[in-house]
Amino acid sequence: MKILITGSNGMLGYDLKEVLSGKHELILTTSKTLDITDKNHTLEFILSQKPDIVINSAAYTDVDGCEENKQHAHSVNAQGVKNLALACKQSGSVLVHISTDYVFNGKNDRPWVEDDKTGPISVYGKTKLEGEQAIKEILDEYFIIRTAWLYGVNGRNFPKTMLELAKNHSEITVVYDEVGSPTYTLDLARAIGELIETDFYGVYHLTNSGSCSWCEFARYIFEVADVDVNVVPVTAKQFARPAPRPSYSVLENKNWADKGFKPLRNYKDAISEYIELIDF
Ligand SMILES: NC(=O)c1ccc[n+]([C@@H]2O[C@H](COP(=O)([O-])OP(=O)(O)OC[C@H]3O[C@@H](n4cnc5c(N)ncnc54)[C@H](OP(=O)(O)O)[C@@H]3O)[C@@H](O)[C@H]2O)c1
Repeated sequence: MKILITGSNGMLGYDLKEVLSGKHELILTTSKTLDITDKNHTLEFILSQKPDIVINSAAYTDVDGCEENKQHAHSVNAQGVKNLALACKQSGSVLVHISTDYVFNGKNDRPWVEDDKTGPISVYGKTKLEGEQAIKEILDEYFIIRTAWLYGVNGRNFPKTMLELAKNHSEITVVYDEVGSPTYTLDLARAIGELIETDFYGVYHLTNSGSCSWCEFARYIFEVADVDVNVVPVTAKQFARPAPRPSYSVLENKNWADKGFKPLRNYKDAISEYIELIDF
């Protein structure tokens, strides 16, 4: 298939290239070659390329930055996604869009399923939800994939930050009252590769299996990496950041399982493989 990837220099974009390049013809775009906030160019570009599939891995992902730069967040995460949906409608392309656990408010005592009520509590979450809504209004053939707590070889992320901090600190404070599912972008890219072979359109939750708090995740990272550091648990309130985060954002991969796909491996197996791969 002919697949156009937006944000291909990003963390997920990098692994999408790795996973899909052997099997598909890829059109790789970046914010320089395809700025999704530019409606006319987005329409022209996609209509001229006529891809079978557009995978949107572009987003303004700085969750705290979104609180300050609301307009930019809206323009990339909501308007940019709408531009892509309009372009896909005209070119007859299927849109695969990556969304987030931050569309939920975090107040739940069981993992979130795809049709649970959304209620974002940050600008990032609100603008990502607007992007989802635009797709649902414009298109019939789409995959909206909500994922969470991503890390990968190409980009800044929690595991790399922890290992970096441990070089100069014997003690690190980490939040213990936010729980989610850390997800390896390579596993997510492989799952997307499977999903696009089908016409099972709809909304999917896709994360590695299992869940933990940031604090537990940090401790596990240091255990696997054999790094001796004292992890001190703190509350999200103590570790003040500009954007509020959902306290519980575990996503049940229900639709994925209902369609007969195999669950993604446990986050502990994924992070162990990842730590073997990176230099720290
Ligand atoms: N990271 C997470 O923990 C996480 C969790 C849940 C969901 N997600 C979602 O997963 C997807 C991938 O995330 P990621 O962590 O791989 O993101 P990332 O590493 O920040 O990459 C995002 C890419 O988007 C590009 N971009 C930004 N503005 C653009 C624009 N106007 N036009 C075209 N491209 C633009 C950036 O390109 P430039 O660098 O050239 O500007 C960047 O390469 C996103 O949709 C994100 O919302 C991420």
